[in-house]
Amino acid sequence: MEYLKRTTTCGALRKGDAGQTVVLNGWVHRKRDHGGISFINLRDRYGITQVVVDADAGQDLKAAAAELKNEYCIAVRGKVRPRPQSMVNPEMATGEIEVVVSDRQILTRCETLPFQIDERSDAKEETRLKYRYLDLRSGAMQYRMRLRHEVAFAVREHLASEGFYEIETPTFIRSTPEGARDYLVPSRLYPGKFYALPQSPQLYKQILMVSGMDKYFQIARCYRDEDARGDRQPEFTQIDIEMSFVKRDDVLSMVERLFGHVFRKTLGVDLPPNFRRIPYDDAMELYGTDKPDLRFNMEMKDLGDIAARSTFQAFQDALAAGGAVKALVAPGKADYSRKQIEELEAAAKVYRAKGMAWCKLTAGEGGAAVLEGGASKFFAGEGAPPGLASELVAALGAKPGDLILMVADAKRKVACQSLGAVRSKLGKDLGLCDPKRFEFAWIIDFPMFEWNEDENRWEAAHHMFTMPQEKYHATMESDPGSVKGDLYDLVLNGYELASGSIRIHDPELQKRVFRIVGFSEAEAQKKFGFLTEAFKYGPPPHGGIAPGLDRLVMLMAGDTSIKEVIAFPKNSFAVSPMDDCPSEVDQKQLDELHIKIVEKVDSSEPR
Ligand code: AMO
Repeated sequence: MEYLKRTTTCGALRKGDAGQTVVLNGWVHRKRDHGGISFINLRDRYGITQVVVDADAGQDLKAAAAELKNEYCIAVRGKVRPRPQSMVNPEMATGEIEVVVSDRQILTRCETLPFQIDERSDAKEETRLKYRYLDLRSGAMQYRMRLRHEVAFAVREHLASEGFYEIETPTFIRSTPEGARDYLVPSRLYPGKFYALPQSPQLYKQILMVSGMDKYFQIARCYRDEDARGDRQPEFTQIDIEMSFVKRDDVLSMVERLFGHVFRKTLGVDLPPNFRRIPYDDAMELYGTDKPDLRFNMEMKDLGDIAARSTFQAFQDALAAGGAVKALVAPGKADYSRKQIEELEAAAKVYRAKGMAWCKLTAGEGGAAVLEGGASKFFAGEGAPPGLASELVAALGAKPGDLILMVADAKRKVACQSLGAVRSKLGKDLGLCDPKRFEFAWIIDFPMFEWNEDENRWEAAHHMFTMPQEKYHATMESDPGSVKGDLYDLVLNGYELASGSIRIHDPELQKRVFRIVGFSEAEAQKKFGFLTEAFKYGPPPHGGIAPGLDRLVMLMAGDTSIKEVIAFPKNSFAVSPMDDCPSEVDQKQLDELHIKIVEKVDSSEPR
């Protein structure tokens, strides 16, 4: 029997359509029976329409309605009629009408559901991923997929309007060192040789600049074999961008225009025309991280001299060793319990702080703030210089009722990062992270090189193709630690949304950077020979950036896991519970690839 094909969708009918006969196809979202009348909410991607089997309907229609269960896929033919005023549902776009069924077909039946659609928040993530097709039927997931589509479309629309070409680069590439481990693809034709899946199209996009493409972008799939986290997936998508004959500010303002368009078009949100810029060193000092959440202020202060004059040995030792004492004020939180303070301290210890000191502020005589509890005695107790406590309170701008938190460490970075983690936790605990606010900032002037303590060598903080800022060119070799790169991150609400840089286009400068990070000429030739070769043929000055599409949509949707905005993500063990990959393959396939498995692991036990 031919199926009754829809004439319209479940989101389309309005009062003006009353009297029309229509056919709807969709899923049974809910069914209610009231005094012999069946109300069925029929759902498709476009919305929900109430269809009704009236009390005076024929016996067969009534029997058919009785048979329906949630998520049956059905077709109904019927007449659109206005709902009585008392039954109008202003929450539904189709809430003014209903369709009175005159004919119906069950297209397919649905077995007992592992979770109810739209009530799936109770379901375990693993179950949602295993039955992702059901999860995706929910209103929340339909919204996320639509938003993702609209964001990608708005990106293309805007970049095309600025003259960018979308160019695809290969997903089988040469394995090149890029930070994470590569996913490898064995070659059948060349036994023992491998393609790598790109961690990003970085080298190709630079080569496209050598090719004179001038403005390139790609919504590019990237692959990285690294540990999964809330904002990381083994395969993810970048809005990859590269431009020729630009300086840093050209890239930054292009991204500001791009995000301005995307947010306006998809969320109706107006962003400021320019995002604030924070040098990396300031971000570390004020927020203890290079991806600060700027939806709340709570800046950290350096206690330096005040801490040095306190009687707290730990503070003095940290400062004597060239470290720092950092402090912040949790406004109005003098009532925090010991347990709450310990939880904050635990956040600091993740970043290797040895402890966290605190003082509470109460109102003394005349309303003046008085230090109480915890480390107060080191500022106000015996042996402390008179007035030191007031100096502390004034330096921090603290008020009675506030809680002061302090971390000291012989390593400045440890003090900053640890208290920064406390700041982040406080922001969340105090409900200061409104998901509907979008606080962008550029972090600029990053260090070019970082010291790798495990390997005892300098390595590139971003990647080896980043341009060191001009003023450091002369001293690069003698003092790599002080060199700032022409690189920038875009942060949004505490996440790194994008990273980019102006690239080196001078082969001699590139060689010097390779040397500093311990890449011999021969090794560089072997790994990136094709790039250095291309750069012999008149490369233009160029630079670019790559915002992560998944993170962007996650933040726009108010989520905290990128899995929510990816149709078929991997779980935290890099496994897809739906199709259960990675999976073993046939011996024949292995033989063709000249691959021998030397050690088998129990695949049910993720390592
Ligand atoms: P980077 O490695 O910083 O830079 O990546 C750029 C952006 O991509 C996103 N991202 C991820 N998203 C989800 N899961 C992951 N595992 C993941 N890793 C990165 C983030 C990040 O800011 N080629 C350079 C860019 C350039 O210099 O132009 C690059 O890939 O949002």
